[in-house]
Amino acid sequence: MCGIVGYVGHRNAVPVIINGLRRLEYRGYDSAGIAVLNGSGLSLNKCKGKVADLEALINGHISEATMGIGHTRWATHGPPNDVNAHPHKSNSGNLVLIHNGIIENYASIKEALLKRGFTFSSDTDTEVLVNLIEDIKKAEEVSLEKAVRIALNQVVGAYAIAVFDVNNEDQIVVARKGSPLVIGIGENEHFIASDATPFLEYTKSAVYLEDNEMAVVERGKEITVKSIPNNKTVRPYIHQLQMDLEAIEKGGYDHFMLKEIYEQPKSIGDTLRGRLLPEQGVIKLGGLFEYREKFLNADRIIIIGCGTSWHAGLVAEYMFEDLARIPVEVEYASEFRYRNPVITERDVVIAISQSGETADTLAAIKLAKEKGAFIFGVCNVVGSSIARETHAGAYTHAGPEIGVASTKAFTAQVAVLSMMAISLAHDKGLLKTSYYHELLTELHSIPDKIADMLKSDAQTRGISELFKDARNFLYLGRGYDFPVALEGALKLKEISYIHAEGYPAAEMKHGPIALIDENMPVVVIAPKNQQYEKIVSNIQEVKARNGKIIAIVVEGDTEIASIADYVIEVVDTKEAFTPLITTIPLQLLSYHIAVLRGCNVDQPRNLAKSVTVE
Ligand code: AGP
Repeated sequence: MCGIVGYVGHRNAVPVIINGLRRLEYRGYDSAGIAVLNGSGLSLNKCKGKVADLEALINGHISEATMGIGHTRWATHGPPNDVNAHPHKSNSGNLVLIHNGIIENYASIKEALLKRGFTFSSDTDTEVLVNLIEDIKKAEEVSLEKAVRIALNQVVGAYAIAVFDVNNEDQIVVARKGSPLVIGIGENEHFIASDATPFLEYTKSAVYLEDNEMAVVERGKEITVKSIPNNKTVRPYIHQLQMDLEAIEKGGYDHFMLKEIYEQPKSIGDTLRGRLLPEQGVIKLGGLFEYREKFLNADRIIIIGCGTSWHAGLVAEYMFEDLARIPVEVEYASEFRYRNPVITERDVVIAISQSGETADTLAAIKLAKEKGAFIFGVCNVVGSSIARETHAGAYTHAGPEIGVASTKAFTAQVAVLSMMAISLAHDKGLLKTSYYHELLTELHSIPDKIADMLKSDAQTRGISELFKDARNFLYLGRGYDFPVALEGALKLKEISYIHAEGYPAAEMKHGPIALIDENMPVVVIAPKNQQYEKIVSNIQEVKARNGKIIAIVVEGDTEIASIADYVIEVVDTKEAFTPLITTIPLQLLSYHIAVLRGCNVDQPRNLAKSVTVE
């Protein structure tokens, strides 16, 4: 996600844009830039870092102007640096553009433009887009508006863009597909932004562009909205905004964590987009493709991470061994780095980290690298320390995760690791063609399945009210859902401060069963898989000792429903993908309990979002 801001009107655009970017930093904060236009020409400034760094850069060095655009970046293509920061200019310098989203077919467009003599200074898909618009504008001798529309009809992907021509300081053209864009309608002034927070103090009247719509925002005129595919004029609906500033940053949710739980259909969809292609029967992961021999010839894969990322690694262990038959070890980075591990050049290390800055994980990578292992990163922050330390990697496109408790990053990590395991299993000829295609199709359906499931959050909220005062919880799972039990327990303890432990369900009889009594809620993850009958037995063992069972079951499961105290239904899926599904109600359970206990959900006590110290 990135944040975009624009302004055309009677005020000095610079403070409007800078303050607006500051309000959108939750959407991305690795680099920022501003471009303003006045009678004396274009002033464009951009830099790696936060909006505060941009402010320092332009302090006193930018002229007043009544029109401009600004951008705060969450890198998807190209590391965070000055060159890759937005805005981007076209080769002629006439067009200036900012973009939030991903242009999937940018490589083929770039290739064509290079052949037509265009040059590029950045690694971004955005610079390709602004030059495509320029190429069309010049070749067909059309207006900026028309060139934008023609270009966007050639583009595959998601975008919210704002672009202007330096020869016209009265007009900004905007468009959206898959990324949000809202236009603030003021008195003889217009605002453009990713959400309404940048202009709320100026106007509460707003037009939310719909997907495949574009608009011309012009000084002194009413905005005109058109359909990108067919150029038909659209009559815009002007909303009168009621929300306050903070509420909009959270997208109307009470907490970032809840917003990020509900973002998972989109974040997993973004992670899979352009990589999982069921119709073509392929998985495209650049880093994996380039180094697949390393994986195929590896003695073993060592997966390292901390906390939730370590849980994602455990899911991957089941998947890589089950599907790709590659030996896997999963290690806490903090232990791995100090236990003098045996590492050889035939080892492949997968380092998993949302922040890409976790000190223990970074240190463990450096140790493995020194001993000759190949390092593959799965990170959510482009250009982060861990991402830069690895030999190759695959980014999760989950967007910024603000809540300290990791949710959408976990499912995005599992989505990337699922694609890796399936791709390697396919490369090794271990999957029947029909089963391979079933896996691709089912993984592709996960975002929609999660979206459906989120509609039944009320079930989970009701159960949360019954157990908010519990002092201990047990989470039990088998197979692919054992890591989910660990993850569910971690979620609960880190935001509600209730002690919780995750266990393999079969381990109960080796000790934890002594804890069971009428005060012990036991969450059992029990999808219909090969160990279903065994987990039913585990539930009966708990019931026999008066434990309270909260069972996560596939919708329509009447057998467990007849013995459990409470049931939360989830949609069915392939066994390997159940972690992507069964983790959702556990995220919601911990969230609702924490809220009911009055805890600070987004910033729990004693915790930090990124543990950059040992
Ligand atoms: C998870 O909810 C926690 N916030 C924490 O365990 C986290 O997963 C861990 O610190 C690892 O962080 P990373 O993924 O950024 O490396």
